[in-house]
Amino acid sequence: MLPLIILTHRFLLFLSNSISSEHGFMIPKTVLVTGGAGYIGSHTVLHLLLAGFKTVVIDNLHNSSQTSILRVKKLAGEFGNNLSFHKADLSDRDVLEQIFVSTKFDAVIHFAGLKAVGESVRRPLLYYNNNLSGAITLLEVMAAHGCKKLVFSSSATVYGWPKEAPCKEEFHLSAVNPYGRTKLIIEEICRDVCSSEQEWKIILLRYFNPVGAHPSGYIGEDPQGVPNNLMPFVQQVAVGKRPALTVFGNDYNTTDGTAVRDYIHVADLADGHVAALLKLDESNTGCEVYNLGSGKGTSVLEMVRAFEQASGKKIPLVIAGRRPGDAEIVYASTEKAERELKWKAKYGIDEMCRDQWNWASKNPYGYGSQEDSTD
Ligand code: NAD
Ligand code: UFG
Repeated sequence: MLPLIILTHRFLLFLSNSISSEHGFMIPKTVLVTGGAGYIGSHTVLHLLLAGFKTVVIDNLHNSSQTSILRVKKLAGEFGNNLSFHKADLSDRDVLEQIFVSTKFDAVIHFAGLKAVGESVRRPLLYYNNNLSGAITLLEVMAAHGCKKLVFSSSATVYGWPKEAPCKEEFHLSAVNPYGRTKLIIEEICRDVCSSEQEWKIILLRYFNPVGAHPSGYIGEDPQGVPNNLMPFVQQVAVGKRPALTVFGNDYNTTDGTAVRDYIHVADLADGHVAALLKLDESNTGCEVYNLGSGKGTSVLEMVRAFEQASGKKIPLVIAGRRPGDAEIVYASTEKAERELKWKAKYGIDEMCRDQWNWASKNPYGYGSQEDSTD
């Protein structure tokens, strides 16, 4: 009975994500995913394939491995044949042109970008060049080929140090580092592009703090170098790669003194992109922005405790001063996404930590760990 229900569900998804060809056949919609080999991109590509989309990925593999693409293909089963990959940089306009000439895309999801805040402070031009020129080249090539539907990966970083929580989409925006400024500028570019021509439909998704991995433990986050973010660092302490977690500040005005964030399971985030693509098909969409968060605030210590529980590992802590630029409390208002995208996060921090640990314990050295040569 269960397989029949799953097949029926998949068939319905296929129908809703397909268009009728001139001969009356149903053909799947095709999406270009930039940065699709990365952490959020790979999970989203898997969800797109399972929802019946044809998916083409372009990624320069600067911060990822092609193994993620191979594993997504496997996880997607028979839908894996609908995935193709181009190793290329977005600044390579000729390659982008060729990709758009060979395939007619219904929409693009733009993940590709550099995201390390500290590095962006040290090397601002690298960030402005990569993130801004990548986005502009992409928009230009899309326009030239009549593909005017885009979902863009923005970030809660555009709220800067918010005056209150939960953060609502209409809050004042600011940037506190070059990385955040690239997100803010690309958001503004998208708003201008939509105002210039009614045909454009763009959804800006402001992610809060993505964590976790696919429940199979087969794909997950594989940061290069010293992780900047909390949970990849905790994960590396748990597998013995680093001796202790440094907690940045325990004197915040929160229940336990550590800063509060909105952690969201990467699988929920991936579903948010499928919901955004469906929204782009509505006639009255112009440029819209949605928070993708759980709507709940969790402190650093609460998150560490949840991970210890899930992994059975003790995470040694070193308490240090606040990290410059860190806000005290940031979490999302999710009302707009719930109302207009019909999307809501399903998983809590226990499931996030369970899946993150499952991935970490099976792949202690990320995609370089095991069986990669056989993939
Ligand atoms: P990631 O680094 O894992 O994925 C980004 C991918 O883009 C990588 O595979 C990288 O190789 C590729 N890339 C970068 N520049 C490129 C270029 N010029 N041409 C082609 N490929 C390029 O990062 P992620 O965590 O999956 O984040 C995806 C997007 O979401 C990014 O834009 C990031 O800024 C944004 N975001 C991430 C977070 C987070 O905490 N992970 C939070 C908010 C927003
Ligand atoms: N933290 C530690 N120790 C660490 C790493 C982080 O105590 O080793 C603390 C931070 O001080 C912060 C919390 O854990 O209080 C979360 O830190 P992250 O770096 O994981 O996440 P942030 O919310 O600070 O910022 C990240 C990105 C932003 C983005 C935001 C939401 O760096 O650009 O997630 O997506 F906007």
